[in-house]
Amino acid sequence: MIGVLCAVQGGAEALVVQALDAHPQLQVTRRCADLTELLAAAEAGLGRLAVVSSALAHLDRESVDALHAAGVRVLGLSDPASVWSVERLRGAGVDDVVLEPFDELGARDVADGLLRLSVAQAPQADRTPVPEEARPAAARGAVVAVWGPTGAPGRTTIAVNLAAELAAAGGSVLLADADTYGGSVAQVVGMLDEAPGLAAAVRQAGQGMLDLTALARLAPVLAPDLRVLSGTSRADRWPELASSALESVWQVARSIARWTVVDTGFCLEQDEVLTYDTHAPQRNAATLRTLETADLVVVVGAADPVGIQRLVRALAELTDLGLGARRLVMVNRVRASVAGPRPGEAVAQALARYAGVTDAVLVPEDRAGTDTALLEARMLREIAPGSPARRAIAQAAARVAQLLPPAPASAGAEDGSAASDVVASGSRG
Ligand SMILES: Nc1ncnc2c1ncn2[C@@H]1O[C@H](COP(=O)(O)OP(=O)(O)OP(=O)(O)O)[C@@H](O)[C@H]1O
Ligand SMILES: [Mg+2]
Repeated sequence: MIGVLCAVQGGAEALVVQALDAHPQLQVTRRCADLTELLAAAEAGLGRLAVVSSALAHLDRESVDALHAAGVRVLGLSDPASVWSVERLRGAGVDDVVLEPFDELGARDVADGLLRLSVAQAPQADRTPVPEEARPAAARGAVVAVWGPTGAPGRTTIAVNLAAELAAAGGSVLLADADTYGGSVAQVVGMLDEAPGLAAAVRQAGQGMLDLTALARLAPVLAPDLRVLSGTSRADRWPELASSALESVWQVARSIARWTVVDTGFCLEQDEVLTYDTHAPQRNAATLRTLETADLVVVVGAADPVGIQRLVRALAELTDLGLGARRLVMVNRVRASVAGPRPGEAVAQALARYAGVTDAVLVPEDRAGTDTALLEARMLREIAPGSPARRAIAQAAARVAQLLPPAPASAGAEDGSAASDVVASGSRG
């Protein structure tokens, strides 16, 4: 007998239970009133299959991932009255979908569907990034994570201006804020803080409802070829980003933009005290997931002695965690007052010696330029195009483009521009 966890709602429940009880190979081992009960039963090993209504509250990609991780395959019942219920189920990652039954015949289809699933291969929680070749043709944009250790080395400044330079060079860009300790991208670029942005995108992706158009609608156009997906400036709202659905957001982002530039938090700790509870959201999950998914990690460090030491450790930490296989190191605020008369050389030497990095991009101290940009909430290239920091970041953008050449030509997706034409206006609030 194969145990089935039943989380079906409404009148269909009795029909399904009856059909399964009459079945020679299937047996309902737990009738679950809600998702929490279903997850608990799955984790307790009470069943190998689950059948769920599309209307089951909070059903999303994360919960289906959790069911898969517990070795349970999931059959979704689509609501005949709702055209998008199939999409919702598919988006949540269920293994198959059949119509919700309204008679015995329909209930037998459900049993057949479950039997089919039971013979299919056992599920695996799919946490590995989709290999480049396996991505759909249009999903070819690159994800560039901007990360760096604690101490405000300039992650946001670099992310915002890197995005602006890449957009100006003609690639469509999505600038996103995934810093769960206090996102500031929206404010830095002069957008209304209340924009739902990334949190809304994650929510929609979790429900399987994020497509190109929906993502574009959440990411207003800031400048030609530059959209912004704002984060949350309220540090207490981090759980909204701590979801496996973030990966789906970056996946969709790849098809709306040639470049997705993500500002991330500094911390890579895995909240180990919480890991006994596999469902507790983890504060640093957004940063970790983004770094795992990224095609390139721009690692930003500060040029003073403390900053350099942190940077060296940070690079080692990335390596230990198996993150950022492809990196571009940027050292920010390079200045003589803290690094000696030839600060560039001193920084380069220290990096080569302690981290083996010989190709870092050095960004000079530029109080005037960055302050003006902050005050006006504009990008350096708009407000201080000749400033030293802007010139260095423009060089970094060229390096990024060099490191991540366009994916091999596939119809209509060479530069992501076809897909990026979708919808939505909107601008600075
Ligand atoms: N090259 C530079 N020269 C002078 N000041 C700079 C430079 N780069 C950044 N700054 C300033 O340093 C401060 C911190 O920068 P930023 O907010 O980009 O850092 P961060 O790493 O994102 O910090 P947080 O940890 O708060 O997210 C800002 O006031 C910014 O204007
Ligand atoms: Mg920041």
